[in-house]
Amino acid sequence: MDYESLFAMLSEHGMESWSTLLKKQLDDYFISINHGDYPRWKELIETLPDLTPSKIDFNSASIVIGTDNDCSTEQQAFISQKLKSLMPWRKGPFNLFGINIDAEWQSNLKWDRLKDQIEPLNDKLILDIGCGNGYYGWRMLGQGAGYVVGFDPTLLFYMQFSAFKKYLPDAAIDIVPLGIQSLPRYPLCFDTVFSMGVIYHRRDPVEHLQQLINCLNPDGQLVLESLIIDSNDTDVLEPDGRYAKMNNVWAIPNVNTLTSWVKDAGFQDIRIIDVTKTGPDEQRVTEWMQFESLADYLDGKDENKTIEGYPAPVRAILVAYK
Ligand SMILES: C[S@@+](CC[C@H](N)C(=O)[O-])C[C@H]1O[C@@H](n2cnc3c(N)ncnc32)[C@H](O)[C@@H]1O
Repeated sequence: MDYESLFAMLSEHGMESWSTLLKKQLDDYFISINHGDYPRWKELIETLPDLTPSKIDFNSASIVIGTDNDCSTEQQAFISQKLKSLMPWRKGPFNLFGINIDAEWQSNLKWDRLKDQIEPLNDKLILDIGCGNGYYGWRMLGQGAGYVVGFDPTLLFYMQFSAFKKYLPDAAIDIVPLGIQSLPRYPLCFDTVFSMGVIYHRRDPVEHLQQLINCLNPDGQLVLESLIIDSNDTDVLEPDGRYAKMNNVWAIPNVNTLTSWVKDAGFQDIRIIDVTKTGPDEQRVTEWMQFESLADYLDGKDENKTIEGYPAPVRAILVAYK
């Protein structure tokens, strides 16, 4: 992946030191990468046919890049087969040259819940921590974002993103296949920082929030999404073992606790903008994600409980300012 435009953009925005550091981190990462599937995935992206998308739409539920008129039937079948070998597709939907990638999550539903309740993204510099395959980043570009930088250490998601970026090499979006721990300790100057679906995977949630505040401009906005416990009786659930079959879920707060964590990290003007129980219309098994999904994580006899007996997944979205 060519990160030259990212490095240039960071330097233009007063983040020259980070640009230099990131270049070194990425060089080191790609030189020493030892993921067994990487050579196959890399070749797969390289062998996707060169095509020019005649249509782009980042504002529809399904992100559209190209139509079926842009390629032959054989090319479409070839691309579809290659994309299938990048399964599981967790976030979407996408439509690439007429191929409908129906991912496990209808991520458009979460986007619809937040898009009109956050600061306008026009020309803004955005950092999306735990960005997955970049679904939301493309939606941010649809809202006029100036540049989107995603961080996510899951290589598969980076490869999925690379399949789209191949067809839009000049798009103002990049994904860095590193975790939040690779961010520098010195301040950065993003206008909006997203952290969605990450905080409950971090051992120290307040430290996570402090890292996020450190990335923001003085008047920047945080958009935070978390699993929550929708009850005043439980301040925070620390699952004993798995939660909804997920490993590494350290703490699920109620909204009061989530708000106090955000306050403790130094944020102000904190607002909960949405609380929604995850349903089977939003997270489910599809042709593009054939493993288990929400229905398998819930108690077969009581959909209000996870299979471990905890409250079923409910998610909150919060906004706050530095
Ligand atoms: C539940 S998913 C959320 C994806 C997306 N933000 C969303 O809301 O749909 C959590 C994401 O965090 C990523 N992740 C895991 N550890 C991380 C870390 N240390 N830093 C940044 N992201 C991380 C995972 O790879 C995964 O894509």
